[in-house]
Amino acid sequence: MALKDLISINHLTPKEVRQIFTTTADLKANPRNYAEALAGCSVALIFEKPSLRTRVTFDLGATQMGASCVYLDHQGVRLGERESVKDMALNLERWVDVIVARTYSHETVIELAEHSSVPVINGLSEFSHPCQGLTDYFTLTEKVGEDLSGFHIAYVGDGNNTAHSLIFGAAKLGAHISIGCPKGYEPDKDVLKAARKEAKKTGAKIKVFNDPFEAVEGAQAVYTDVWASMGFEAETERRREIFSAFRVTKKLMNAAAKDAFFMHCLPAHRGDEVDADVIDSKCSIVYDEAENRLHTQKAIMLLLVQANR
Ligand code: CP
Ligand code: NVA
Repeated sequence: MALKDLISINHLTPKEVRQIFTTTADLKANPRNYAEALAGCSVALIFEKPSLRTRVTFDLGATQMGASCVYLDHQGVRLGERESVKDMALNLERWVDVIVARTYSHETVIELAEHSSVPVINGLSEFSHPCQGLTDYFTLTEKVGEDLSGFHIAYVGDGNNTAHSLIFGAAKLGAHISIGCPKGYEPDKDVLKAARKEAKKTGAKIKVFNDPFEAVEGAQAVYTDVWASMGFEAETERRREIFSAFRVTKKLMNAAAKDAFFMHCLPAHRGDEVDADVIDSKCSIVYDEAENRLHTQKAIMLLLVQANR
């Protein structure tokens, strides 16, 4: 792994993505072999927004490899308000070996990474959620085998941070991703452009539809996320109307490939983006994804620390 930081899946090479998956699989199968892998290391966990999965899994993951964690929640204060992001980075790098940051602005994670000599991991920004995307594709490798080239995943809903990371992941892995979202809620144009450039090399296909049924046709996995991401709560009611045709229902799942998986990064809102009889059914692998956040993030921390020693 040549990278210093993990800010976006787009910065990884396909080989590095596979290295993360191989390390994740070994960490999952043989956790005791890694009990001292980060002995003596410290990890700062900075969260501007709430979290269950990301916070718990980074904290436990670091601890399971012998590191200690310091959690900084911002009590409603955004990074850079009390002191500059640059100064935070220049302080933290003197004490810790890894910084994990969940921020509103993507620029904040970039700035932290620019000014700190230790690895910075994006634990979700408004732009991307790379640890989630990597975990999701790792989870699919467990279900269908290591080679995801040609695997068809459909993402239905808001063209948000999670969607961006899934698009970049598909591009790296040669998978096919079809996005179904309302007009005006498509993924970022630059993300599509960059991912399609990569797709030319890997054979990935990236399509965007404004009809959920067109998006899921032939899909082997159907993925959704909340309609109003953190920071967009004021739009919840408006979005509920705009997105109502994009709910993942049994009917929509039936329009995908037979035995398609249902996926969600969680937290989920049953009755909004997904019906309970889908997320709570046999086809749902949402808790496998949640479990794998732990193993994937352990691999990410370990590979970044090793690369920067
Ligand atoms: N999926 C995810 O990142 O969950 P949290 O917001 O609870 O961390
Ligand atoms: N898109 C969601 C993901 C939560 C894990 C959000 O940003 O709130």
